[in-house]
Amino acid sequence: MPKVFISGAAGFIGSQLAYRLWKDGAQVVIIDNFSYGQEDNLIFPDHDFRSEILRMDVRDADALYRLFEQENFDYAYHIAAITPLPDCQMNPGEAVSVNVAGTVNVLEAARRFGCRKVIFASTSAVYENDTVFPSKEDRHELPSLIYPTTKYSAECFCKSYAKIYGMNVTCLRFANVYGPHIDCLRKQPPVAGYLIRELFYDRAPVLHSDGKQRRDFVYVDDLIDLALLVQKGDGYDCVNVSTCKSYSINEMYSILAKTMGKEQIKPKYVASSNYWNKYPELYEGKYTISNKALDNEVNKFTQCDNMHALEKYGWKPNTSFEEGLKNTVDFACGLLSKLHR
Ligand SMILES: NC(=O)c1ccc[n+]([C@@H]2O[C@H](COP(=O)([O-])OP(=O)(O)OC[C@H]3O[C@@H](n4cnc5c(N)ncnc54)[C@H](O)[C@@H]3O)[C@@H](O)[C@H]2O)c1
Repeated sequence: MPKVFISGAAGFIGSQLAYRLWKDGAQVVIIDNFSYGQEDNLIFPDHDFRSEILRMDVRDADALYRLFEQENFDYAYHIAAITPLPDCQMNPGEAVSVNVAGTVNVLEAARRFGCRKVIFASTSAVYENDTVFPSKEDRHELPSLIYPTTKYSAECFCKSYAKIYGMNVTCLRFANVYGPHIDCLRKQPPVAGYLIRELFYDRAPVLHSDGKQRRDFVYVDDLIDLALLVQKGDGYDCVNVSTCKSYSINEMYSILAKTMGKEQIKPKYVASSNYWNKYPELYEGKYTISNKALDNEVNKFTQCDNMHALEKYGWKPNTSFEEGLKNTVDFACGLLSKLHR
């Protein structure tokens, strides 16, 4: 059975990936620095990873080298990152050191001590400036915000390691991911987590712009199916992990409100210029974040082509939006009820 490294395993996607690999019989070695990760994510009905996880930072290259030397991994899933966009925008140096240098550290550890394949969690946010849809892996505009720029830079290092050293490296560009373990509580939660939390507490969620903006949402279990399939295949690859469909925030809200029996709560709509107003520093200083940039981010349309995943790996997403959201609600409300007691 393979031995698998996972960084960011206390987070939403990393914890679900660790569990699936463990269930499939892999030996998993998981790390996280708990900057965003939660212990709750490590508890599953038939396994508890809390005593196994190593508190380690991907910025600590020497610790990674020691671990890779000692463990002789077959596969390395590099999932850890600073993911909230305004956090990256607020602390660009830290975002670069975690998201870019941290990725290089994992690649270098794999180079020095061997590993059949490195699989890197990238993002469809690299398509933020696209105007032609669906976005394809080999044809897109360069990003502008700090988060997608760090991810795109990290992808360039993945490509570099594959080309220069002949390593096998796959970058997975995740669309907007939702499902059990999505974070509802952080300062800027992903949209599904935010909406569920507000509805749970009977508060009217604040939606920026008119809620008609459409995004490509992919369910976490479908994503993991593909993350396992890409273990095969040599050289460098970059793969969209998406449904190639899009739903508006209003449509997501309606499904969530109905599922939770809270259709009487109506969202409040506010201007996109307030989008990151919990981060006042971005609106202060000699140069401030422009309304155009905020408007672009709020109203961004995403739809990512998934033919490469189908043709090369035989993958297509199986979970309907309604079913996926219902599972997300069940899990998130269970957790919120536990915290509430
Ligand atoms: N959730 C999405 O919609 C989405 C979409 C596209 C891409 N991604 C990418 O997928 C990956 C996982 O996303 P997620 O939603 O699970 O995020 P998450 O924030 O829930 O998980 C990230 C984990 O990385 C850990 N981490 C952060 N800095 C670290 C460091 N220096 N050392 C070790 N661990 C560190 C955090 O503590 C956290 O547990 C990220 O790389 C993200 O960029 C996510």
